[in-house]
Amino acid sequence: MRILGIETSCDETAISIIEAAGEFGAGFKYQILGNALISQSDLHAPYGGVFPNLAKREHEKNLVPLLEKALGEAALLKKGSVSLGTLDVVLEREKQLATLLKEFFSTYAKPDIDCIAVTHGPGLEPALWVGINFAKALAAAWNIPLVPVNHMEGHVVLSTMHEDTMAKFKFPLLSLLISGGHTELILSDEWMQYELLGQTRDDAVGEAFDKVARLLDLPYPGGPEISKLASKARQNPSFTSSIKLPRPMIDTDDYDFSFAGLKTAVRRVVESAGALSDTLKTEIACEFENACVEVLVTKTMRAIEEHGVQTILIGGGVSANTHIRNQLAQTIKDYGADTKLLIPPPELATYNALMIALAGYFRAQKKEFAEPAMIRAQGNLKLSN
Ligand code: KG4
Repeated sequence: MRILGIETSCDETAISIIEAAGEFGAGFKYQILGNALISQSDLHAPYGGVFPNLAKREHEKNLVPLLEKALGEAALLKKGSVSLGTLDVVLEREKQLATLLKEFFSTYAKPDIDCIAVTHGPGLEPALWVGINFAKALAAAWNIPLVPVNHMEGHVVLSTMHEDTMAKFKFPLLSLLISGGHTELILSDEWMQYELLGQTRDDAVGEAFDKVARLLDLPYPGGPEISKLASKARQNPSFTSSIKLPRPMIDTDDYDFSFAGLKTAVRRVVESAGALSDTLKTEIACEFENACVEVLVTKTMRAIEEHGVQTILIGGGVSANTHIRNQLAQTIKDYGADTKLLIPPPELATYNALMIALAGYFRAQKKEFAEPAMIRAQGNLKLSN
């Protein structure tokens, strides 16, 4: 089955085309035919975060060029034309996208694609709507089915694909999903079943990285910047830090997190210091990263122990963080458990459409196609059923 995945939930516009076959497990095979992505993070940097209406406008501009690129890579771009279907109605609020797509439909024939998978949540609703309406217009013009995908499921499915592990990993599976919008521990006793064990009560961990970076005058997105400073400090044998930050909720008897207080603690340190020297920035970055990682690893290990977890995966933008990767791997090793750790390659940790196409394939296998009119952007869509 050939699936075209579309992702527009935040500030990445992405389209991916895969060919996949087989059921979950040893028989499953897939190949990436085309993969195209434009990150808008430089455009949002001056705002210190993602500005929803700017994201919407950029998605409108980027989707058709990315579609052309992905289909080109997949050798599926053939001259011809298709009728516009319901384009003008579906893209009533995306005029710029409608104009670009009309031109595309009058230039290219229907490609050999069986199904379209599109993120319908969670994320920024104005941004999600652009991808959803684009998917509806394509599905109508090409007369193929549409499958809505939960973005968080995309992270889970993608992480299980790495290193040909899919055939080998065992349940229960624990997913630690850490990004700019989420901090969640999710337990799966079987494939595509989810139980939410815990989540953040306020800021997501990536959001805390970004906010602390702003306090330290570091550019957006702040996670990689803080991480760079912190790892440089750790590599310096004479580095010492006099800063001590709290480890919020580390000892609570649940799987919830809280990162807002940590950010406030950093603000107090910065304010009482007066001037922000490079040394102070480095000390704060290192201690802040240590605090976040300690809390995440401690709660994850508790869940592993209490639920007899056989496989643990991390996903989401913050899973690109080297310190969390190393600490989690080391702690699991020290603990002596034979829990398998699945980590996506850093370039796939942040948003992409490959994960949407992959999750869409498994949903399409279950025949979970949706009536286009029923698909809506759901900013707070949950994974647990
Ligand atoms: O999953 P993602 O691409 O999208 C959103 O949820 O928006 O994650 C982006 C988040 C940002 O908050 C960014 O600062 C954080 O992931 N991030 C990192 C690292 N790389 C990205 N945080 C810590 N360390 C990193 N190396």
